[in-house]
Amino acid sequence: MQVKLSTGKMIPIEMYKVRVVQKANLVPASQRLTAIENAGYNTFLLRTRDVFLDMLTDSGTNAMSDNQLASMMVSDDAYAGGESYYKLLDAVREILGFEFCMPAHQGRAAEHLLAKVFVKPGDQVLMNYHFTTTKAHFELLGGTVHEIYRDGALETTSTNLFKGNIDLSKLEKLIAQHGPKKISFVRMECTTNLIGGQPFSMENLRQVSQLARKNNIPVVIDTSLVSENAYFIKRREKGYADKSILEIVKEMMSYADVTYMSGRKSTCVRGGLLATNDRKIFDRLREWLPVYEGFLTYGGMSSKEVEAMAVGLREMCDIEVASSSADLIEYFVAKMLEAGLPAVTPAGGLGAHVDAMKFLPHVPQSQYTAGSMSAAIYIVSGARPMERGTVSMDRDKNGNDVLSDVELARLAVPRRVYTMAHMDYVVDRLKWLYAHRDLVGGLKFIEEPPVLRFFFGRLAALNDWGTKLTAAFRKDFGDEY
Ligand code: F0G
Repeated sequence: MQVKLSTGKMIPIEMYKVRVVQKANLVPASQRLTAIENAGYNTFLLRTRDVFLDMLTDSGTNAMSDNQLASMMVSDDAYAGGESYYKLLDAVREILGFEFCMPAHQGRAAEHLLAKVFVKPGDQVLMNYHFTTTKAHFELLGGTVHEIYRDGALETTSTNLFKGNIDLSKLEKLIAQHGPKKISFVRMECTTNLIGGQPFSMENLRQVSQLARKNNIPVVIDTSLVSENAYFIKRREKGYADKSILEIVKEMMSYADVTYMSGRKSTCVRGGLLATNDRKIFDRLREWLPVYEGFLTYGGMSSKEVEAMAVGLREMCDIEVASSSADLIEYFVAKMLEAGLPAVTPAGGLGAHVDAMKFLPHVPQSQYTAGSMSAAIYIVSGARPMERGTVSMDRDKNGNDVLSDVELARLAVPRRVYTMAHMDYVVDRLKWLYAHRDLVGGLKFIEEPPVLRFFFGRLAALNDWGTKLTAAFRKDFGDEY
């Protein structure tokens, strides 16, 4: 929610009371340098004891509500037939409008099952933009991923309110080129993660769905950030201002044949699910569930989380919950822009993003611009960002780096966890870093896994720039902060 101050300025206001807190730790800059060196300049490999603000991700790190925690106490720990599942099924029917649902331990598990059922070698999978785990699963089973975003979607400074839209002429062309039978499905990702959490519009989804269904191609919506995408539709799309988040979510789902989600985001739990109205699709997906996840009524999740996901599905449709992170991100991005920093615009869901190629124009992509930037942000602030650039792309078959379309340092804003003061602090440190950006250099891999290398890969700073940056920081701030 946003409220207007007497000055006319809008600020994000917390529509919750904080009753339980966790102590945060801000270790000195010299310790942060040691920590990032030990982590191979990969923020995934930091320990949280060395992290002040954990902005790596909003996945599984959101604050749960009192009602979610209470629901966990009455969960039903049965291997089969547990009541918690039926509560989840009721919530899925009520909120998403799908008759059949199966839990999975997290979003990528749902992607794995989808890939098993829909993707064969030689198949084409069309989508607004890929997500790392999505692409990995579909390619592992022999599919080719096509990203068919509209022109301008990759521009990081933009006024395009729906950069997550699909280009209908590209969709038509690919259908004509490959034939509908070779197309596994069209996937729409709610707030395209890797290009800055950018939403798609209802109008675009409706048109994509019409075209796909006319050709008997299933439409799959990745609903990981569905409440945020719905909130953006309400705020940004003509005709939706007076609709509730629930009405918008329901309309979105009416254009999908299958939906899946990482429940770790909008629903603030740790889990995932798949849902559909098509009995045949459900049966085919269900065949694989016990092989990879578990029995239908828990799908690899703890029954406590199944209960809390049912509550989370309903709560995410409360506008005060749907807007909680989006409004703080909008504030965060506005502050960055005021400070002259190259933040991705418009502000999106899940976090604020900084264009590393604009921030560090002297660090080429071959030296992992966004990786350098993320490590540098950690050194000067103790906030832990995530690299979303070339490090997050695996090498091609010939062993060459695949340069990412964009190099972003992502500062995730988990729901109901951080405050405006935290955002102001990070912007201040980013401002300092921008003034000293010449001190930041590139990285090189010293240990590199072949698949999803960004998780465990280790890098080193070229020319020891981490030490020089830390020394300059300590000169200005001492070793306290
Ligand atoms: N789809 C989207 C759009 C996601 O953002 C994620 C995860 C997944 C699928 C996979 O779900 O993690 O539950 O297996 N995004 C996290 C992130 C990891 O940090 O953005 P998962």
